[in-house]
Amino acid sequence: MNSLDQLKRHSIIVADTGDIDSIARNKPQDATTNPSLIAKAAQMPQYADLVEEAIATGRHDVGGKSGPTELHLLNAILDHLSVIFGLRILRIVPGRVSVEVDARLSFDEHATVEKGRHLISLFEEHGISKERILIKIASTWEGIRAAERLEQEGIHCNLTLLFGFGQAIACADAGVTLISPFVGRILDWFKKAKGVSSYSMEDDPGVLSVQRIFNYYKRHGYRTQVMGASFRSAEQVTALCGCDLLTVAPALLTELSGSEAEVPKRLDADEAKAMNIERLEIDERSFRWMLNQDAMATEKLAEGIRGFANDLESLSRYMAKLLNS
Ligand code: E4P
Repeated sequence: MNSLDQLKRHSIIVADTGDIDSIARNKPQDATTNPSLIAKAAQMPQYADLVEEAIATGRHDVGGKSGPTELHLLNAILDHLSVIFGLRILRIVPGRVSVEVDARLSFDEHATVEKGRHLISLFEEHGISKERILIKIASTWEGIRAAERLEQEGIHCNLTLLFGFGQAIACADAGVTLISPFVGRILDWFKKAKGVSSYSMEDDPGVLSVQRIFNYYKRHGYRTQVMGASFRSAEQVTALCGCDLLTVAPALLTELSGSEAEVPKRLDADEAKAMNIERLEIDERSFRWMLNQDAMATEKLAEGIRGFANDLESLSRYMAKLLNS
């Protein structure tokens, strides 16, 4: 049995990409997108028809409103683009697709709630139930509060850009459906900060972060699912075999399916339940303090939001060029 099939015995495998053709090749259960992945896919020639459809639908949407600004139109087009990619992906995967809220709203609880509801309504117009969508939101304090409200309305959320333990605890307390703790970006930070070129899997700080969160959640009976994300190597993925879900880029999925290496289960909910792990109470003050005290999490969260926002801006400029050509 190849390594990917072995992994699938213990974790749900998710494709981390906006490239629809590669999802079809890898047959995952679910798929995740993010603004950078959508921006990249939207500029691939094979998806030009999806971009045209997003522009046409966006124009139709705002056309009736008096004097729509170009910014208003571009934002409508970006929403439709995410939804159109999501709809195509849902034709392939049997499960759910994660669609990310505009990263520029990461510190605005109200606007994030509105955007989440709007994205769900666009999917519902196409007959897609909200059960098949995860609204992906950055794990800021405001993002977590917005997710809590959306979950109360039955809208499921995936809390992303999660680097610190306090972020993970606050997400579980808020009752979010799923979190995406990042592995590779944590490793990137520690390699740079410590001036080392590699870590063994036993010491990999990204892998250890997900293990810690998984054990904490299982020990204390939280229902929030843990989906390891942002992988730099197949070894990082297999080191988390047993995690609820793992979202993996197509190149690593291909590598795993071409390998026959043994993949033992590394994370075990039953073992975690027997662990002696103290429960922590988190409020806004302690959330912000814990984040502030964790330089890696503070820097990576800020950098991640900036990166997604920049990719959205450049996608917006690309769309503006198409609109005006
Ligand atoms: C998925 O939720 C993340 O957006 C993704 O895994 C990030 O991966 P990266 O660190 O390789 O960009």
